[in-house]
Amino acid sequence: MREEIPLALHCPLDPQSSTRTYGPGLGYAVYTLLRGWVTVRASGAQLSVSYPSSSASKAAREVCASGDRWGGDLSSSSATPHLAVVSALLGSPHFPHSRNALKRFVTQVEQHTSERWPYTQVLGGLTNAPEVKQALLGLSDALYFEIKAAGASGAVQDGGQVGALPDLPLGPLIEDLLGRGAAQAAGPVRGLGLEARLRRLMRRGGAALLRGPKGTFKTSTAKRAALAEGAALSVVCGAPGMEDVDLIGGLYPGDTGLVWRDGPVTRAIAAAQDGPSVLLVDEALRFHAEHFNRFVTLLDRYSADEARAMGVPDALLPDEAARYQLLTLPTGDVLAAPAERLTVIFTTNAGDEYIQTSSGFDAAMLSRIDLVIEVLEADLQVLLPLLDQAGGDPRLTTVAVSLMQWTQAELAEPGCLLCSHLDARKALSFLREARENLSYGLDLRGALLDACTHVVLGVICPLDSAGRLDAGACAAVMNELQALIDQLGEWHPAG
Ligand SMILES: Nc1ncnc2c1ncn2[C@@H]1O[C@H](COP(=O)(O)OP(=O)(O)OP(=O)(O)O)[C@@H](O)[C@H]1O
Ligand SMILES: [Mg+2]
Repeated sequence: MREEIPLALHCPLDPQSSTRTYGPGLGYAVYTLLRGWVTVRASGAQLSVSYPSSSASKAAREVCASGDRWGGDLSSSSATPHLAVVSALLGSPHFPHSRNALKRFVTQVEQHTSERWPYTQVLGGLTNAPEVKQALLGLSDALYFEIKAAGASGAVQDGGQVGALPDLPLGPLIEDLLGRGAAQAAGPVRGLGLEARLRRLMRRGGAALLRGPKGTFKTSTAKRAALAEGAALSVVCGAPGMEDVDLIGGLYPGDTGLVWRDGPVTRAIAAAQDGPSVLLVDEALRFHAEHFNRFVTLLDRYSADEARAMGVPDALLPDEAARYQLLTLPTGDVLAAPAERLTVIFTTNAGDEYIQTSSGFDAAMLSRIDLVIEVLEADLQVLLPLLDQAGGDPRLTTVAVSLMQWTQAELAEPGCLLCSHLDARKALSFLREARENLSYGLDLRGALLDACTHVVLGVICPLDSAGRLDAGACAAVMNELQALIDQLGEWHPAG
């Protein structure tokens, strides 16, 4: 009989499905990957995975995928698991829970060895260690339900075929999974996620607008992409009282009289003379609309001849064929940046919940922005490891993700009592507080309920006419949280 997976290890997908068992084919795929027996070839959206069959012959098998079409030898019970495990490692958007569970598992494995991937010595018999076994059961559960979900959404299909592809070294990807990665280095950027898209934009220069609710990783993704590209980063955060000097720079008293100090926009232009440069205009709608003119003119591009005619010195125009973005300083000087080295990223919230200074971007501004991206939800690939880190216990991560999803679903219902959803930033604070409560001696239930009372309710429940938190909304949240904690069962991680 197959080993049952305890409630506390269930990933938040498909919560109705209560009896869940370990999948040996999934475990075998994890084993071959970590043992170093898997060869992955990939290019763009094409993927091929070779691995030894689980039969006594250990005959080589190959399974392949092209985009969202999965195919090859799907008759083998280990084919889909291998594609799924590798997709999780590669950061496929279909497998965020599996990726996080794989990270937990490999982290547990490394607690028992000084080996680094491939783990040739340590894996045999390791599942006798309770934490390793639990991490494997959790990984099996996440893989099973994400394969199921991907299949249901049409992402897994039979019949894909791929041609000759270059080998993908797995060592750097495992390092990246564990957060030690140098896999960020130059080379093509895979994937269609937000960070990959921004990194590609940074390689050609341009502008992007990231618009969405609070806490969906707009600001942090823009910064991470800039760092990954080795770009210089200048940040300016919108605020109603801002003046031109806060953007461009100005004259300030110094030892020898007034001295010019660059503002973030000037710094970004200057940095683009040496290499890629990113200007992050955070909370853009908190600027007064008049500042947008500054950005509208900054986003226009000029030929070297045009720039020279406008007063840009030759030293700033190294390439006659290049296009340049210009900035006129109050002194009358005109600076230039090669357009392919300068990326401007605007972020903003949108919707009635936010008190902004400006009502929106005008058409002239939007037409100059290359990527206009709605970032409606926090990317689970980013969020799950952060929640693990904040709470220090996978069970807390499951509760937080489930509560986030519940608040989203509630808000979509007519007559909802809540005024806002539980966003990623709040979810992280919630788990940090719960963790403190646990270390203070509260049990899991007490720690979560107390943290929710002090961190979450004040943000997602409205105030009544007397200025107190709406009792009905608070009760609904606490009831849901109680139910989520009940679903964790009585199991303890030390097993
Ligand atoms: N690498 C990280 N390590 C720790 N915390 C992080 C990391 N990345 C993001 N966070 C947390 O997630 C929160 C939300 O991310 P971020 O500020 O990027 O969201 P946002 O979409 O810009 O939100 P807003 O619209 O409110 O400005 C951050 O405040 C931070 O607490
Ligand atoms: Mg932000």
